[in-house]
Amino acid sequence: MARKYIIAGNWKMYKTIAEATAFVDAIATEVANSDNAVYLAVPYTAIRPASEKTANTNVVIGAQNMNDADEGAFTGEIAANMLIEAGAQFVVIGHSERRAYFNEDNAFINRKIKKALSAKIQPILCVGETLEDRENNKTEEVLRQQLTESLADLTAENVGPLVIAYEPVWAIGTGKTATVDVAQETHVFCRSVIKDVFGDDVAQKITILYGGSVKPENVKELMAQNDIDGALVGGAALQPESFVKLVNFDK
Ligand code: PGA
Repeated sequence: MARKYIIAGNWKMYKTIAEATAFVDAIATEVANSDNAVYLAVPYTAIRPASEKTANTNVVIGAQNMNDADEGAFTGEIAANMLIEAGAQFVVIGHSERRAYFNEDNAFINRKIKKALSAKIQPILCVGETLEDRENNKTEEVLRQQLTESLADLTAENVGPLVIAYEPVWAIGTGKTATVDVAQETHVFCRSVIKDVFGDDVAQKITILYGGSVKPENVKELMAQNDIDGALVGGAALQPESFVKLVNFDK
């Protein structure tokens, strides 16, 4: 079954409002004819201005994190409805940097995913093993646990627009990309876990992105793999020229 590619930039803690709006101005016409979905996960402050700038384009603006509560005394946190009001249409959840530096566990990530789905903002759930996990042959165990615990209580009926991003932690920001064979094989495994949890129909339809040092030089061979349906890109999504090349990898 043909799944539409999503090329998603994750800007992390980069770009002021001025830089973000200049970026979307620079790419809008360059990516306008792409058949691929074009996503940018921007800092909270840039969501409103970037989504206003891209209102009549195919560029979709989203956030990099959210809390699962509707509101409350949670200093520094942000709620789904606040993101949606600002113009975010998707949200990255459980990125390895959130897991590692802000102690997010699968239970918290699961609450966020459920909130995102019920609030109608598309979640991109990130999973991935560390180098230690891979060297100890724990990759599949870790991924199965991350996926099943992060998606607990959901059903094929309400999993809706969920996207998965497989990002080996050892490949993020390191310049080391998984070989296409390793990436494809691990995507197949993630899809098989989705099948175990939600059945074959969801497994065939769900979009699974690859992330970890994706760049214009390697995007084409990664996207040529059967089970890789797009990319979640950090470093190479910070420059307009490079991001445009990623989006237009098939042109
Ligand atoms: P990278 O980051 O492309 O810089 O490796 C990917 C990510 O963290 O999503």
